[in-house]
Amino acid sequence: MSEFIHLTSKNHSLIIKSGRTPEVLHWGAKIASIDEDLLLSTERPISQARLDVDVPLSLCPELGSGHFNAPGIEGHRDGFDWAPVFNTVRVEAQDQQATFVLEDTVSKLELTVEIKLDYESDVVQKRITVTNKGGSKYYLNKLSSTLPLPNHANELMTFHGRWCHEFQTQRQRFEHGGFMQENRRGRTSHENFPGMFAGTQGFSEQNGLVWGFHLGWSGNHQMRADVRSDGRRFVQAGELLLAGESILEPEATYQTPWLYGCYSNSGLNGIAQRFQQFVRDNIIQFPTDKPRPVHLNTWEGIYFDHKPEYIMQMATEAGAMGVERFIIDDGWFIGRDGERTALGDWYLDEVKYPNGLEPVIEHVNQQGMEFGLWVEPEMVSQDSNLYRNNPDWVLGLQGYHQPSGRWQYVLDLQNEACFDYLFSRLDALLTTYNIGYLKWDMNRELVQPGHQGKAAVHGQTQALYRLVDQLNQAHPKVEIESCSSGGGRIDFEILKRTHRFWASDCNDALERQAIQKGMSYFFPPEVMGAHIGPAECHSTNRRHSINMRGVTALMGHMGVELDPVKESQQEKQAFSHYIALHKQFRHILHSGRSFRMDPADKNQNIYGVQNDDEMLITVCQLAMPEYALPSPLRISCVEDSALYQVKLVEMPQTSFQLMKQRPQWLDKTLTLSGDNLKEIGLTLPILDPESALIVHLKKM
Ligand code: DGJ
Repeated sequence: MSEFIHLTSKNHSLIIKSGRTPEVLHWGAKIASIDEDLLLSTERPISQARLDVDVPLSLCPELGSGHFNAPGIEGHRDGFDWAPVFNTVRVEAQDQQATFVLEDTVSKLELTVEIKLDYESDVVQKRITVTNKGGSKYYLNKLSSTLPLPNHANELMTFHGRWCHEFQTQRQRFEHGGFMQENRRGRTSHENFPGMFAGTQGFSEQNGLVWGFHLGWSGNHQMRADVRSDGRRFVQAGELLLAGESILEPEATYQTPWLYGCYSNSGLNGIAQRFQQFVRDNIIQFPTDKPRPVHLNTWEGIYFDHKPEYIMQMATEAGAMGVERFIIDDGWFIGRDGERTALGDWYLDEVKYPNGLEPVIEHVNQQGMEFGLWVEPEMVSQDSNLYRNNPDWVLGLQGYHQPSGRWQYVLDLQNEACFDYLFSRLDALLTTYNIGYLKWDMNRELVQPGHQGKAAVHGQTQALYRLVDQLNQAHPKVEIESCSSGGGRIDFEILKRTHRFWASDCNDALERQAIQKGMSYFFPPEVMGAHIGPAECHSTNRRHSINMRGVTALMGHMGVELDPVKESQQEKQAFSHYIALHKQFRHILHSGRSFRMDPADKNQNIYGVQNDDEMLITVCQLAMPEYALPSPLRISCVEDSALYQVKLVEMPQTSFQLMKQRPQWLDKTLTLSGDNLKEIGLTLPILDPESALIVHLKKM
């Protein structure tokens, strides 16, 4: 007996056929109602030379019923019960959500599949829980969430990266076989952001049908997209469980992380807008209702060279530039004179700070800024008191040499004594000092993640969540940044308990254009830490004008990452200028709908944000323009009959080497109608490579 469950959101429908096992029949544009004949019209033929029955591509596909691609569940009971086949025993559906309970009375497993459709954003959420109903242990190897794709989704866009090079994208045809990524680094990782897109051939920023996916999990994961030989295709994602990591005792359960998905008929823009709205409505909770403060972070300014008087001078300069939050990075705690020592000893270094931290914090506050502090709680240096006193607190495996990473080791957060120590030190810091912000760093991968000898990335990840949750409860006004050598821990699940990401250790504005673009498909700009660095970038040694650096940082959650004391008066004035611009427009940037355009010149990045009345568009010339003349900026997201005031906000001041005469409108305010802007467009000046401009539009 089959029945349809029809979940609807503002724009989309998700229709699930609930037979023996639930199967998604449609996920995409909204369907007004289900026709009586839909069951008949969607019945599949049974091919020659295949199984004699139809095999549904269910929400948890089973090997045991003839799904020969990746099964949704894998495991065994001492070699038995390794190919479970489920029957739906209960279905609950209301409004935008449905729950299916499935049972296998032979293998004695129960599955609960939860699926929701968020009304406002159209984002789908799915997770599965398995319960061991048998009398012996069930060795669970895998439980993943599967969502189908239509056959016209025949191109994939996936993510790759590394330190200082996060959120890079690559494309591939998706017609036979598939794509798989596996992350065993023990954190979300720079290398394999758990997200991917599938769409119609050539889908772009503005065009095409696209289905987007993100697994909200900060540990290991597996994510794949497969095309079956019958043409049906699907995306599957879940935690990658190491050997023995999930052994379920009788009545014990394992729950997958949430898999998030969304559909768009307007290219990647529709995906980014939906994910960003979902994050704003459901994931981020800023503790106070105030604009996102502009940061100054000390790392690239002074590294480990902490002198309180000098830091106060930096704070004075920062305050004068309009900075609103001043963060002391690594190097403040006892014995931390370089990257090889002291992690774990979370006590102020009184040699460096003989009068304590209070005078520095007071000074920061007097300049009108909030104070923030860097920590890296999950780590320990071998050269630390914590390690000397508790060498057994390290997450590792006895009998093996474990390579260090950045000369440090990971602490076992499932060790209760270790957990309590970390909580009490962080709690003491937040209680003793007037700290409004913690930059929570995590600078190495988990190589031998063993707790009491057993694989423990799952437990470590959950313990991390618990530690952050407990701190949030104890200090509800403190904000936390998730940093992991830059963007190594960026995902929806960590964002539920943090407030900002350090997107990358790379402050090179050109690199940042790509990193921030990739990240913006999932995350809104107000959580994307983006800082102006020194003219010569520390991670690439490339030089950029302040125009390029300023415009690039301004579009995220802005900050400055340098030593303002050492900067020239001219540079400091420029920092103040971009900070002021950011403040002037952050009401749009941090709440509006973002969009990108498909540029005629492939060497341009065109990014905009709009709210009801205003729009800000940045055009960044990444490399030499393709043509001698720029293509007009044709702005598609305007109202045809509305009138707009169009004004240039920002352009490179120093050089326009490629142009001997500039368009006159650059010095004027234009009035243009929506259809003119959309169909004819605005002619831009010729931009030099690695420079950017900003245009502002206001509806009249
Ligand atoms: C890595 C971070 O990404 C940097 O911003 C900085 O905080 C350093 N760690 C400090 O050790």
